[in-house]
Amino acid sequence: MLNIVIFGAPGSGKGTQSERIVEKYGLDHISTGDVLRAEIAAGTELGMTAKALIDHGQLIPDELMISILASKLDKLAGGNGVIFDGFPRTIAQAEALKVMLAERGQEVTAMIELDVPEDELMDRLIKRGQLSGRADDNEETIKKRLVVYNEQTSPLKEWYKNEGKHCYIQGSGELDRIFADIVAAIDSRK
Ligand code: AP5
Ligand code: MG
Repeated sequence: MLNIVIFGAPGSGKGTQSERIVEKYGLDHISTGDVLRAEIAAGTELGMTAKALIDHGQLIPDELMISILASKLDKLAGGNGVIFDGFPRTIAQAEALKVMLAERGQEVTAMIELDVPEDELMDRLIKRGQLSGRADDNEETIKKRLVVYNEQTSPLKEWYKNEGKHCYIQGSGELDRIFADIVAAIDSRK
C-alpha cells in the first residue's frame, strides 16, 4: 500500500505531477481543492462555505476538512493506495491523517515536497488564471495564498522531517525530470 503526500505551495505542480503518479502506480487521487471546487459547482452548503474562504485565499477550517477527507477515504475500496494532493495543509491535519491511516493499519509512505521559487509560482498561476479562469488565480488572491502557505502549511516540512518521511524535489524545470525525481524518491521508500 502506497500513501503519498504531494506537497508544495500554490502552483508548485501538485496536480500536474499527481496525474503522472496515479498513472504509474495505480493510486487513487484525493485533491481536496478539486473536492471543494466540485462542491462549489454543485451549489451545496459546503460549497458556499468553501467559496467564501477560497476566494480570499484562506483555508477551510481543520475540523471540516478532516471530516471531508475521512469520508473520501472511507469510499475508497482498498486499491493500491492514495495520493493526497493539497492535504494536509496544517499540523492538525497531518496529525489527523496519521491517526486515520493508523486506524486502517497504514501510514504515509513518503511526503514529496515540490520546491519552486515564489516569482515562478506567481507567473504560473497568473497564466493559468488567464487560460482556465480559476477564481483564485488572480494576483491579489495568489499573494494571500502564498502568505497562508508560508505561515500555516510550510511548517509541515519540519513535521514530516521529524517523521522521517520528507523527500525534497526541485520543482522547477522540465516536467519529465521532476517526475523522474519523484519516482526515484517513491521507489526508494516503498
Ligand atoms: P488547491 O486546489 O489545492 O490549490 P493550491 O494548493 O493553491 O494549488 P494549485 O492547485 O493552484 O497548484 P498545484 O500545486 O496543484 O499546481 P498545478 O499542477 O495546478 O486548493 C485551493 C484552495 O482550497 C485553498 O487555497 C484552500 O482555500 C482550499 N483548500 C484545499 N485543501 C485544503 C485543506 N487541506 N485545508 C484547508 N483548505 C483547503 O500547476 C500550476 C500551473 O503550473 C499549471 O498551469 C501547470 O500547467 C503549471 N506547471 C506545473 N508544473 C510546471 C513546470 N514544471 N513548469 C512550468 N509550469 C508548470
Ligand atoms: Mg492543484
